[in-house]
Amino acid sequence: MDEANRMKRLPMYLFTIIDDLKKDAQDRGLDIIDLGMGNPDQPTPKHVVDELCKRARDPENYRYSRSIDSVECGLRRAISKWYRTKFGVDLEPDSEVLPLIGSKEGIAHISLAFLNSDDIALVPNPAYPVHFNGVLIAGGILHNLSIDEKNHFLPDLDSIPRNILKKTKMIFLSYPNNPTAAVATKGFFSKAVSFARKHRIILVHDLAYSDIVFDGYKAPSVLQTPGSREVSVEFHTLSKSYNMAGWRIGFAVGNARILRSLAKTKGYIDFGLFKPIQYAAIKALTGPQGCVRRQVEIYRRRRDVMVDSLAKIGWNVPKPRATFYLWARIPDKYSALTSMEFVSLLIREAGVVLAPGTGFGEYGEGFVRFALVEKEDRLVEAADRIKRVIEMEV
Ligand SMILES: Cc1ncc(COP(=O)(O)O)c(C=O)c1O
Repeated sequence: MDEANRMKRLPMYLFTIIDDLKKDAQDRGLDIIDLGMGNPDQPTPKHVVDELCKRARDPENYRYSRSIDSVECGLRRAISKWYRTKFGVDLEPDSEVLPLIGSKEGIAHISLAFLNSDDIALVPNPAYPVHFNGVLIAGGILHNLSIDEKNHFLPDLDSIPRNILKKTKMIFLSYPNNPTAAVATKGFFSKAVSFARKHRIILVHDLAYSDIVFDGYKAPSVLQTPGSREVSVEFHTLSKSYNMAGWRIGFAVGNARILRSLAKTKGYIDFGLFKPIQYAAIKALTGPQGCVRRQVEIYRRRRDVMVDSLAKIGWNVPKPRATFYLWARIPDKYSALTSMEFVSLLIREAGVVLAPGTGFGEYGEGFVRFALVEKEDRLVEAADRIKRVIEMEV
């Protein structure tokens, strides 16, 4: 029962180890504050759930979904309209929009659609894991672009060696960024688009956190850059904006030829989305957006509470302008520990779960990520418990 080599190339999934540590701590009677996974805790808006329930009662909606079906056409039009309103970008619904069973699915499949065994994909590191794991599963060659505080967690595109560029077929970018919570300007995207056009590289941009922005910051779409459509596709999800993570719905937009190949790849593997979910997604995208604003306000307050509570215990963490993550350097006292060791210590001693930086790639070492998916009082409590660990005799 030997696994395929392509599976053996994948790094260990650290959340499995963390789940074991969590279970251990729970068995010892510890109450767990789980800030590990970026799994939104708030409910999906009621009008979206109501639409799902209504449509789920109609047997017509139980059949396979086809791209020519009216609901899927309607969803593509709704996405296109949402895009125009949000980014001022016009998309042709039939060729420049592709619904997905969650954006993770599409991001994994785009590597499968384009990478041969001698093709290189450039992936910033640390990154959301499917960006690099998708490349490995597809059997492509992964080239890490290290990102760190010094360069504001943006890759230095000018430093990529020529011999790498010659074989590069794709680059993955994602801002606002998971795990670092870094943001990018339109200027950065202009540079990235020129780079991709010059070297004839597919530019994949993952914009999962377009709505989770604070303090007046607006997350740009790569498609706002002139000329980007020649080389770019952008991935979006309803998981974060509308708290629909378990529903599995996202979409890709941009270059029609790239999307055609992605749709072709998916056509051999899946059968599209459950129709009631598509109807509900149309409601989410075209309905009132106050729910998104209220959600963002909840995350903003949590961000402030967590950053302030950590500052009070002497752990200074930057206040991000987007996402619901904090990316924090391991406190000095424990800087000799790996991020996984530090996370294990916090679970064992305090019942507080964070994500280790190395869960997002080797350049995440030295950091941990907080996902602000618990209520404010729990965040304050988490900081109190962390304080006890920091003050512990070692
Ligand atoms: C950057 C990024 N992209 C994609 C996803 C996956 O979203 P989806 O639920 O649409 O698969 C996540 C989820 O955490 C993410 O952080």
